Amino acid sequence: MNNFNQNATATVLISGGGSNLQAFIDLISSKILKLNILAVISDNKNAHGLIRAKKAKIKTICIESKKYPNKKNFDQKLSESIDMFDPNFIFLAGFMRILRKDFVKKYEGKIINIHPSLLPKYPGLNTHQRAIESNEKWHGCSVHFVTEEVDQGPLIMQSKIPILNNDSSDKLAIRVLKREHIIYPKTAELLISGRIKYKNSQAWLDGQLLQKPIML
Ligand code: GRF
Repeated sequence: MNNFNQNATATVLISGGGSNLQAFIDLISSKILKLNILAVISDNKNAHGLIRAKKAKIKTICIESKKYPNKKNFDQKLSESIDMFDPNFIFLAGFMRILRKDFVKKYEGKIINIHPSLLPKYPGLNTHQRAIESNEKWHGCSVHFVTEEVDQGPLIMQSKIPILNNDSSDKLAIRVLKREHIIYPKTAELLISGRIKYKNSQAWLDGQLLQKPIML
């Protein structure tokens, strides 16, 4: 089933805390996740995730947004950096930039994102606050293939949690993040084993079109 002779390879793109990156690192070091992270790339030199990567002896690259005010130049630099490693997958883990359409097209089927809402609900920012203000009963997180439309690519996996009375967006974010740390590596496992594939702009599981995201 596995498509990869050795471990699959990835670059992980971050902008901040890097707790999702850490979830990957922990499972890799306990040999549960057979993934070789070749580099962690950040658009923010102060991202705590860079420290996490260095501790795990993973190569880090910083492409500072403010040095590339032109989005096309930023994406080109990012693309050159990724191509040095030729990874099987590009995991966006709290990467807070919107990538240009031609960038996404180049890597279609290889770029995966985690988003803190039950997509298609609440694409974009401030998802926890927006879910609370809309009196939602449920909230959660989604892993999806990245396509040209932001936060709208084919869904792979979701996890759903109740919104509690008196929940604040911070409290809710912490609980959602715990679920993110489960579903993102699980999705990576399915991609690495070749069980999840991207074909005809859709997600497939074991050769069957994934009609609904896997719920965990
Ligand atoms: C996560 O909620 C992720 O879904 C969102 O940004 C947050 C990043 O968290 N895109 P971390 O940097 O992985 O801790």
